[in-house]
Amino acid sequence: MITRAARAWTAAIAPGVELWCADLSGPLSSSAAAVLTPDERNRAVRMAARPGQRFVASRIFLRCLLSHRLGLPPARVPLRLSPHGKPYLAAVAGETWDVSLSHAGDTLAVAIARDRAVGVDIEPNRPQPAMNDIADGFFTPVERRYLRSQPTDRQPTCFQLIWTAKEAYAKALGLGFALPFPSFSLTPGPGPATNRYSSWELHHPGHPTAPWSVVTAHRDQHSVITVASAPQGSTS
Ligand SMILES: CC(C)(COP(=O)(O)OP(=O)(O)OC[C@H]1O[C@@H](n2cnc3c(N)ncnc32)[C@H](O)[C@@H]1OP(=O)(O)O)[C@@H](O)C(=O)NCCC(=O)NCCS
Repeated sequence: MITRAARAWTAAIAPGVELWCADLSGPLSSSAAAVLTPDERNRAVRMAARPGQRFVASRIFLRCLLSHRLGLPPARVPLRLSPHGKPYLAAVAGETWDVSLSHAGDTLAVAIARDRAVGVDIEPNRPQPAMNDIADGFFTPVERRYLRSQPTDRQPTCFQLIWTAKEAYAKALGLGFALPFPSFSLTPGPGPATNRYSSWELHHPGHPTAPWSVVTAHRDQHSVITVASAPQGSTS
């Protein structure tokens, strides 16, 4: 049971991968946090008021979504945290699911995948004042060349597209910023970009060439969302 009004949007990104976005700005009922574990409730209590509420709302949303997929009550969804901070699910009846979350203000992006590792990143589609410094520090030469080949008015969006693709991949690996961002490149894939999706090609020297799918979903003009996924077991 979702106990707050979460306006959700969903898309199928790759076989077995679902992307959900929810607007978590509505009020929370007082009993809503009952589905959280004691660890999750303690974490929310340690946060400032608004981020704490958003955290509670995002965990309720995630637990309710997974409860439908697993056929378990939300409170019994076996959600765990890896040592690097990535949420994941303990195997249920032989099924392996991966999850990833990202926040942009009150908007939550959730990717869930069966038998695939998954990572998602959402960023607001607005100019990043430190765009050039970040590109110099975190992008590869090929990414910087691609960014700077774009018309000036398109560069802020292009920057966010590359950034979300890199962060989604780092989150799918479960490493986040522990993965050095200049060690891998994401460039536009060979297929045509549609008005709903566009795909990316990964170059990560020295890493096994898992069949990665890195896809940007064009949900609206206010945010940029990319999901990276690859079959479980092929990513390390
Ligand atoms: C993951 C990370 C890149 C996200 O940064 P961000 O852009 O500020 O935030 P986003 O909103 O996009 O993502 C936040 C979500 O990423 C997830 N996340 C955190 N660490 C993650 C990791 N290593 N891999 C994948 N996902 C991770 C969490 O679900 C988090 O949301 P939650 O706190 O509500 O559960 C960054 O926080 C990071 O690198 N964290 C890892 C830190 C680390 O290695 N810690 C070691 C233990 S001390």
